[in-house]
Amino acid sequence: MAIYQDFIELLKESIKDRKLVKLTLSQYRGQEIGLKNLYVKLVEIKRELKMSFVYRYETRDITKNFSLREGFDVLVEAVHFKGFRSVVLQSIDEQLEMQMNKKAEWAGSKKVLSESKELNLNHDKQKERKLQDASKSYLHDLKLTDSAGQVYKNAQDKWKQINHYIEILSSSLNNLPNDQSLRIVDMGAGKGYLTFALYDYLQSTLKRDVSVVGVEFRQDLVELCNRIAERAGFQQLHFEEGTIENYQANKKIDVLIALHACDTATDDAIYKGIQDEASLIVVAPCCHKQVRRELERVKVKNDLDFMTQYGVFMERHAEMLTDSIRALILNYYGYETKVMQFISDQHTPKNVMIVAERKTVSTEQQLIILEKLARLKDYYGLGYQHLERLCQLNAEVSK
Ligand SMILES: C[S@@+](CC[C@H](N)C(=O)[O-])C[C@H]1O[C@@H](n2cnc3c(N)ncnc32)[C@H](O)[C@@H]1O
Repeated sequence: MAIYQDFIELLKESIKDRKLVKLTLSQYRGQEIGLKNLYVKLVEIKRELKMSFVYRYETRDITKNFSLREGFDVLVEAVHFKGFRSVVLQSIDEQLEMQMNKKAEWAGSKKVLSESKELNLNHDKQKERKLQDASKSYLHDLKLTDSAGQVYKNAQDKWKQINHYIEILSSSLNNLPNDQSLRIVDMGAGKGYLTFALYDYLQSTLKRDVSVVGVEFRQDLVELCNRIAERAGFQQLHFEEGTIENYQANKKIDVLIALHACDTATDDAIYKGIQDEASLIVVAPCCHKQVRRELERVKVKNDLDFMTQYGVFMERHAEMLTDSIRALILNYYGYETKVMQFISDQHTPKNVMIVAERKTVSTEQQLIILEKLARLKDYYGLGYQHLERLCQLNAEVSK
């Protein structure tokens, strides 16, 4: 029982000294149907320090705030009687973990942290966080977090990327029509990190009625992601085996996503979004081989040969040219486009994201865009670009 006494002491002290960062109760074996975890932290509400309790059920969260005194009692009762078998208490500078063994006794250990944790008492900020917290089962199943919901050290970059992704998209997602259920297709979903996060954000934070399909040609990834989605209780998130080129949506797509799909697969995805008049199209292009091959073909013939003789500049030209043409074609179909840096280029050079929101366009504007496209192609000596060909625009400078 020594560890239990240590727990009570550390709990009292970290509440009194405002050092309680987070308390996680897990491995629930009690009577309450669907209850999985309890998370407790200190929050400041209207200048008063409170304890915030988040009861995580399979399909929902229930949050209750208590005064410090009441919170302490509720917590001790939860640890004593409620049926949780694992407790992790994190203060700014110490961490205590205890598990209930087969003899119904607590066993565990306490350690001083080598690096102090940060304490965030901001209640509103907490609400605004894009992914509500790191303790959801899908994050653990995707091997981003440990069983207590702590992000693994080697998964910090991915965790940042996921949150940044939701951050970038949040205003566009908030602009989507909100009188209907949303149908989202994520093409080339891979291991699904971003697909899961998007579904979670839309469903749990924005409370949208949403269905998300991840399209992926690797059967193993499709099976893995479907298992994780089922375990997380994400009933409207499914992964389908297939190629982007051949994907046939059985309902209109509202949001089309393709992140890091190879070369012209990005064009195939954009094309499907345009055809379906998707309200939002988001792509993070990967390689740009098709246009690069075109540039290689003409490299000695245009004025840019002094630059394009260098492989690395040729690569950058191919990227800028391809993605500018994609943005221009999206404009042609009435999309307002933003081109931004997705992840820091410290991590990958493939870090551009195009976010396109559907608005309107006049015929005059379309003609101007076609003219721009034609001149751009002419300047670079580019025969065609794959999206342009799919859309049958075939822009040519008028002679
Ligand atoms: C680099 S991963 C990106 C995964 C995820 N979208 C992300 O950004 O984290 C690209 C994924 O797309 C899949 N993929 C590439 N081309 C595809 C195609 N034409 N049809 C279906 N899946 C494709 C690959 O198997 C791979 O899993």
